[in-house]
Amino acid sequence: MSASAPSSLLAYCRPGFEGECAQELAGRDARLAGAGYARAARGSGFVEFVTPDAAALAGSWRGLVFARQLLQVLGSARDLPPKDRLGVLLPLIEAADPVHGPRRWCDAWVEAPDSDAARELAPLCRGLNAALVGVLKKKQLIDRASHWRLHLCLTATDAAYVAMADIAHAAPWPGGIPRLKFPRAAPSRSTLKLEEALLVLLDEGERERWLKPGMRAVDLGASPGGWTWQLVARSLHVTAVDNGPMDTALLASGLVDHLRADGFRYRPQKPVDWLVCDMVEQPRRVAALMADWLASGQCRYAIFNLKLPMKKRHDEVQLCLDLVADALAAAGKRGELRAKQLYHDREEITVFARAG
Ligand SMILES: C[S@@+](CC[C@H](N)C(=O)[O-])C[C@H]1O[C@@H](n2cnc3c(N)ncnc32)[C@H](O)[C@@H]1O
Repeated sequence: MSASAPSSLLAYCRPGFEGECAQELAGRDARLAGAGYARAARGSGFVEFVTPDAAALAGSWRGLVFARQLLQVLGSARDLPPKDRLGVLLPLIEAADPVHGPRRWCDAWVEAPDSDAARELAPLCRGLNAALVGVLKKKQLIDRASHWRLHLCLTATDAAYVAMADIAHAAPWPGGIPRLKFPRAAPSRSTLKLEEALLVLLDEGERERWLKPGMRAVDLGASPGGWTWQLVARSLHVTAVDNGPMDTALLASGLVDHLRADGFRYRPQKPVDWLVCDMVEQPRRVAALMADWLASGQCRYAIFNLKLPMKKRHDEVQLCLDLVADALAAAGKRGELRAKQLYHDREEITVFARAG
């Protein structure tokens, strides 16, 4: 059994994207001291980034595309005894703040990365979570007003990271994954991608202000209508552009016009509020199309999917985001871009863009 306390960050990501997640953290680090390095195993679903000052590097998970969650590591332990894992982990938890004594936590989550191997740890996580919260309550270390949340990340039955998150800068879902229920009336599972994008890329106030009943939207590559369904559910009028068929119940809502047209050529007669796009195409081509709509004022807000190539995925994402940002700047518009690889994204990412 061994326990240690390095200074590092822990990021959760989609398995297979550890390299991209590490590249992003290294990029953030390079803008600061640049003394850090990543430890990542392909397929593990997480990256540890070792740095002399983890608190300074942490920042928000929002600014990272490939990280679903970003935590500050307090320590890690291996060879945990199966009958008393918490006995080894508690000293690491209680040593969290040597100056002010043990930190108080608004909550404690025991989670495992999203890999095939670690997913089998879910029952153990649940049992350990109940026990951990019980112990912390007994020790009066739970304080709902605290802005620190405790995270135990099990990477094996006998190995764990002890980590923490400032709730203002961390994803509010265990594992960084919002669990969404598929709406039975929606015509495709893709609907969850747009629902997750609206939840993750916008905050509650933004959803209320920027997505109002009666607004007009265009959905490029809309068939069979999962994304259109999300917009109609919020009472937006949608022009659905696709040569493929649209769900008949959705068309009967009276809020959808279906146009059988090429999404790269279609332009609205009058500017619209929203543009969404899920066409399977080269990412640069989609980014250029979005840039054109936003820069020319044909839409104010856009959410679009970028299907990633096999190689240099991090670089391709950066290139596409720069392409949109440059087009907005050249048009004299203040733009804003937010991008994430969502839980419902596979070899792709989702971007929200706003033209000011
Ligand atoms: C992943 S599916 C979209 C699924 C849809 N978002 C949903 O939620 O049901 C991609 C769609 O893009 C459409 N598509 C691809 N290229 C297109 C183009 N140039 N113009 C219009 N639609 C296109 C395809 O016909 C296909 O229906």
